[in-house]
Amino acid sequence: MPTATLPTADLAVYAARLARAQAELARHGADALLVGPSADFFYLTGYNAHTSERLTMLVLPAEGDPAIVVPTLEAPLLADRRDLFALHVWTETEPPTAIVAGLAGSPDVVAVGDQLWTAFLLKLQAAIPGARWLGATEILRPLRMLKDAREVALMREVGRRTDEAWAEFVTRPLSGQTEAEAIDRLSALTRGNGVVANWGICASGPNSASPHHHTGDRVIQPGDAVVFDWGGTLEGYFSDVTRTVHVGEPEPEFRRVYDLVLRANQATLDAVRPGVECQELDRVARNLIAAEGYGDAFIHRVGHGLGLEVHEEPYLVSGNTMPLAEGMVFSDEPGVYLADRFGVRIEDAVVCTATGGERLNEATRDLLVLE
Ligand code: GLY
Ligand code: MN
Repeated sequence: MPTATLPTADLAVYAARLARAQAELARHGADALLVGPSADFFYLTGYNAHTSERLTMLVLPAEGDPAIVVPTLEAPLLADRRDLFALHVWTETEPPTAIVAGLAGSPDVVAVGDQLWTAFLLKLQAAIPGARWLGATEILRPLRMLKDAREVALMREVGRRTDEAWAEFVTRPLSGQTEAEAIDRLSALTRGNGVVANWGICASGPNSASPHHHTGDRVIQPGDAVVFDWGGTLEGYFSDVTRTVHVGEPEPEFRRVYDLVLRANQATLDAVRPGVECQELDRVARNLIAAEGYGDAFIHRVGHGLGLEVHEEPYLVSGNTMPLAEGMVFSDEPGVYLADRFGVRIEDAVVCTATGGERLNEATRDLLVLE
């Protein structure tokens, strides 16, 4: 059981993020940012507001003091953040969107959180007529994408703990277990390392050719390729790892495909450096896989950003010309999927450093043949 002390974030971290968000608002000509419960909210406030029919909302003007509108029963949870925000507590019978509109003033341009429920957005748009609305990702993308030293340290640690669970998991046979039983054991081992692990995919045999297979009751048996895609959070930051194993001796084509995907994973990592376009990483992996005749079987992008969400910016996909920058963390996960036969995916989290890519996962990538 790991005992490393986790790096903490004091209120100054959130004050600095709020100030940077205000600078981005000004740069976009926006007057206010409205964010409901979401990873954006947690990133800016350090408060994990839960999504419900009662509105909690951060109101950040481009100039001036930030405020949080919160229902009475949840206000105590924000008691330790009063130095950062004015709290506007609403009682059960007040309309919170009217309070938000009052705080926002009469803005011309409003940035609103991408994950706000439509029910709230419609009421806000009625309460703030005439404004132009834009998605908050425009404002927050440059902040959330670039992880600071604490965020990278947490992601390295959650990666390490997830890898440790894998090392323990593969010491036992798989044959005879259902997919659900197998992923439960892997998630339990991950939780045993202090990671909040409550999602995962186990895809066995022909199911492994479906990249986001819904784990079920199929019994794993000799001859199966088995894809495990799992992870969890530490202080809100995700790990996301995929490993493919084989039960019993694989056919020669499986070995060839495994080796190809492994090379594509390595080539993607090798292409990481600041300034390289996101789409270039996808192109590197895709060209390699296509050159060996499996281009049509690589049916998803090579990676996605990782952080407070398991999929976030930046997306490593054709058409994304955004340059990589130091501090970006993303998955490197090429895959080949042969319908009705097998799939192979190998996924690590990677951080872009000043000199290149550094993996945050080191669970063995050697092909494991299990019983
Ligand atoms: N796991 C592959 C993707 O989401 O693109
Ligand atoms: Mn992934």
